[in-house]
Amino acid sequence: MEDSATIRIANENYTFPLMEGSEGEKAIDTRTLRSKSGYITYDEGYGNTGSCESAITFIDGEKGILRYRGYPIEQLAESSTFIEAAYLIIYGELPQRKQMTEFSGRVLRNARIDVGMHRIFEGFPHSSHPMAMLSAMLNSLGCYYPEMATNNRERDLEYFDEAASLLLSKVRTLSAMTYRMKNGLPFVYPKHSMGYCQNFLHMLFSEPYHDYVPHDDVVKALDLILLLHADHEQNCSTSTVRMVASGGANLFASVSAGVCALWGPLHGGANMAVVSMLQKIHDAGDDGSRFIEAAKRGEARLMGFGHRVYKNYDPRARILGKTCEKVLAALKQNNPLLDIARRLEEKALSDPYFVDRKLYPNVDFYSGIILAAIGLPLDMFTVIFSIGRMPGWIANWKEIAEGGGRIHRPRQIYVGKNQRDYVLMKDRAKNLAPAEGPQITE
Ligand code: CMC
Repeated sequence: MEDSATIRIANENYTFPLMEGSEGEKAIDTRTLRSKSGYITYDEGYGNTGSCESAITFIDGEKGILRYRGYPIEQLAESSTFIEAAYLIIYGELPQRKQMTEFSGRVLRNARIDVGMHRIFEGFPHSSHPMAMLSAMLNSLGCYYPEMATNNRERDLEYFDEAASLLLSKVRTLSAMTYRMKNGLPFVYPKHSMGYCQNFLHMLFSEPYHDYVPHDDVVKALDLILLLHADHEQNCSTSTVRMVASGGANLFASVSAGVCALWGPLHGGANMAVVSMLQKIHDAGDDGSRFIEAAKRGEARLMGFGHRVYKNYDPRARILGKTCEKVLAALKQNNPLLDIARRLEEKALSDPYFVDRKLYPNVDFYSGIILAAIGLPLDMFTVIFSIGRMPGWIANWKEIAEGGGRIHRPRQIYVGKNQRDYVLMKDRAKNLAPAEGPQITE
């Protein structure tokens, strides 16, 4: 293979090295482009831009491949657990038995939340969105563990093992607390005898006078959902975590920003949007055909379909499609939304609009139906995604902190006004057009 690429701009040739990843992904290393030529690359949405080298997750979107640290997602889904996958993602290797015992013990010991944080919860109105509360509370954790949140990379890395398991554990407790608080219910304390997901369901649904006992298939399905969300290379929220971390911010601040980035409907909020869409289709008495036609006319978007990277079936959607049926059968639920989802999928996969654009179901297409079956309200769906994505955010923060690279600071193409002189207030009425914005009322 050639080891350099030449870019010709206005009769001048500029040569750049080529890069190749361990799975053959190719790139032109343009880091010296601006200093050599005065030009920058323009890539809105970063579809062609590699922002980093990373050894955590590999995706081949054309082939529908996803691997954490080299292990195929299908094998992990079949044989691993969320906590083991979290260890793998954060530390790079599957844990030996002793390492696993130590790690899960540390996660278990860290489930408790300081009572001072209970009082922060009391300050939120009941109308607060759980994602807003979760982001604020994760950042607040840094106030309770200041030795782990110094914004001095070397010192923060010294405490990394503790901070990582603390976050994995407390994100789950805090998530359950957002649900309890919103519903006017007393907080339920974690139990040391329970596994990660069972403990979460206990903190969500038990009452002081009644223990919630989940179906085994529900516990397994929740664990699977978390595992399948655990990392997904440079998506919007993970890139946000890396961006914040690149400025030297601590782990708590960085993952708190990740929660905010995840919230939007085009990213982690899509699982909520899918269920709302299915409900609307159902309420309108549509079998999905009318909605598909509206999506093709650009009047609606088929939520849970399409992906920036996957131009094939998202392997996570394939796994969750099967799990969805299992959970509904275990809970003896007959959800008409699943039938609509299946019909939409069938129609879309044979429709040239979706086929030509390579739009396939993504991870969010079936996860929402499972979460609804478990009894979670819509606004908790993206919170579950946040718990799942925590290992990926932590591992990406660690890569940045250990790598010690430059601060992330993209360039832009400025398209605003050219230089002009300041106009005094008294002269503005005759010399300046009124700005767009709130109208002046006399
Ligand atoms: N329904 C209908 N048309 C679509 C859809 C969709 N879900 N997604 C993309 N298209 C069309 C789009 O209109 C465009 O058509 P045209 O070429 O005629 O203008 C073409 O496909 C390319 O779409 P794009 O918007 O340029 O693609 P993107 O890579 O910028 O966006 C996406 C990716 C995931 C934001 C988008 O596919 C989408 O909005 N999907 C629905 C929301 C969703 O399910 N998001 C979850 C993503 S997976 C989990 C995660 O990462 O959080």
